[in-house]
Amino acid sequence: MFRGPGRLLRAPVAPAAALAAALLSSLARCSHLESGDPVASALSPYFGTKTRYEDVNPGLLPDPEAPQRDPELLEGTCTPVQLVAVIRHGTRYPTAKQIRKLRHLHELLQARRPGDEKAGGAGGQDVGAALANRPLWYADWMDGQLVEKGKQDMRQLAQRLAALFPSLFDRENFGRMQLITSSKHRCVDSGVAFLQGLWQHYYPGLPPPDVSDMECGHPRINDKLMRFFDHCKKFLTEVEGNATALYHVEAFKTGPEMQGILKKVAATLQVPLNHLNADLIQVAFFTCSFDLAIKGIKSPWCDVFDIDDAKVLEYLNDLKQYWKRGYGYTINSRSSCILFEDIFRHLDKAVEQKQRSQPISSPVILQFGHAETLLPLLSLMGLFKDKEPLTAYNYKEQTHRKFRSGHIVPYASNLIFLLYHCKNAKTPKEEFRVQMLLNEKVLPFAHSQETVSLYEDLKNHYKDILQSCRANDECELPKTNSTSDEL
Ligand SMILES: *[C@@H]1O[C@H](CO)[C@@H](O)[C@H](O)[C@H]1NC(C)=O
Ligand SMILES: *[C@@H]1O[C@H](CO)[C@@H](O)[C@H](O)[C@H]1NC(C)=O
Repeated sequence: MFRGPGRLLRAPVAPAAALAAALLSSLARCSHLESGDPVASALSPYFGTKTRYEDVNPGLLPDPEAPQRDPELLEGTCTPVQLVAVIRHGTRYPTAKQIRKLRHLHELLQARRPGDEKAGGAGGQDVGAALANRPLWYADWMDGQLVEKGKQDMRQLAQRLAALFPSLFDRENFGRMQLITSSKHRCVDSGVAFLQGLWQHYYPGLPPPDVSDMECGHPRINDKLMRFFDHCKKFLTEVEGNATALYHVEAFKTGPEMQGILKKVAATLQVPLNHLNADLIQVAFFTCSFDLAIKGIKSPWCDVFDIDDAKVLEYLNDLKQYWKRGYGYTINSRSSCILFEDIFRHLDKAVEQKQRSQPISSPVILQFGHAETLLPLLSLMGLFKDKEPLTAYNYKEQTHRKFRSGHIVPYASNLIFLLYHCKNAKTPKEEFRVQMLLNEKVLPFAHSQETVSLYEDLKNHYKDILQSCRANDECELPKTNSTSDEL
């Protein structure tokens, strides 16, 4: 837990060698940032889970530190009591697996016969040659780590939230803040960067202390909570480890929309069609998004695609999220009930303390995880649910779908539960109310479409989930011998 500045200043000075190493590595990472002015891409609305936060919140582009005050936020008669936030890590590098695929595609381009280049050139520019001659800047060590821009995402989010809710993020509350994180580096690092942003908010001008000097240094790791999907037997058996569970994703990869793109890309890059597949096309598209998000450049990989291609590739990404993390299977969202219940336990405790006029033990709770943490949780709450499932065969009908991961879970996406204590002038009764914010915008509740709910009503609406989760059997596999009671 964060101990405040006193503890930090007394922290022992890091040995010079360690300090130098830390400095060097941070310099090395900074050198990947080439950005000057913010760059936009016509394809960026379709980047799915690889979308930049500022593409969802364009108000941030002119001033990323200015708080985004949603006019629907409760004010006046209500005081914020507690904030519980589930935060996706900031912008990250591609995973080693994605980098391997990209390298393979790059090699295919470099292996084109010399004659090929002239063949399709015909006066136009040869996209394939340009890509083949351009060195790849991705390396294996990057493997999904948080990038410098990702740290900035977190620092700026911290500064905006602290400015938006000054009473909760009060300097006095610093030591009572709870940080919980997934064990993945990018999440731990996101938590640390968030704390640094708070430090900058409290002590502008003072350089934030080095991570290793922070006694907090240890946002508490809890994978059962933040990576519940790794711990749910039923999910692991029925979805994650099940070759047929993602049937629609596989079928879409070989369906007419993707085949159309494959043919077009093969022609554009002058690579034999049978050397390409949907995964390689997808990694080329991802590279366009990574180059923009990480380096802030308009990547030549984007030149391979037009907007119609991007829409199809976005759908492919959403299909996977839908069947693996969303409404595709009930267990996807059910597996998150442990986190859902944990959130309500915090809220319950705050309500109880407030009712007894006790100080709130944790006014701010920050939980760092993944898109895979947020999507099941949102689905459990019934949000972004379409009438029809997303399938391999209804791409056209799903043009205006709600389940669009790029709008819901970009990098640094955050779902915030805000608990308020309200005193109504007309009724002497005290009330507790809740608002939800997704990416700093008020999110209407699925059951009422209202932007605020009485805490009791909310708990009541979700009481089945909360109760059955407490019974702790959501993730148990059904008994194998009871085949007789199948429909
Ligand atoms: C795998 O998924 C399919 C499709 O949902 C389902 O019918 C099957 O029962 C699953 N297999 C296991 C072992 O859960
Ligand atoms: C299933 O197996 C358990 C023991 O493993 C047994 O007690 C139970 O009667 C069986 N149920 C059926 C429907 O066969």
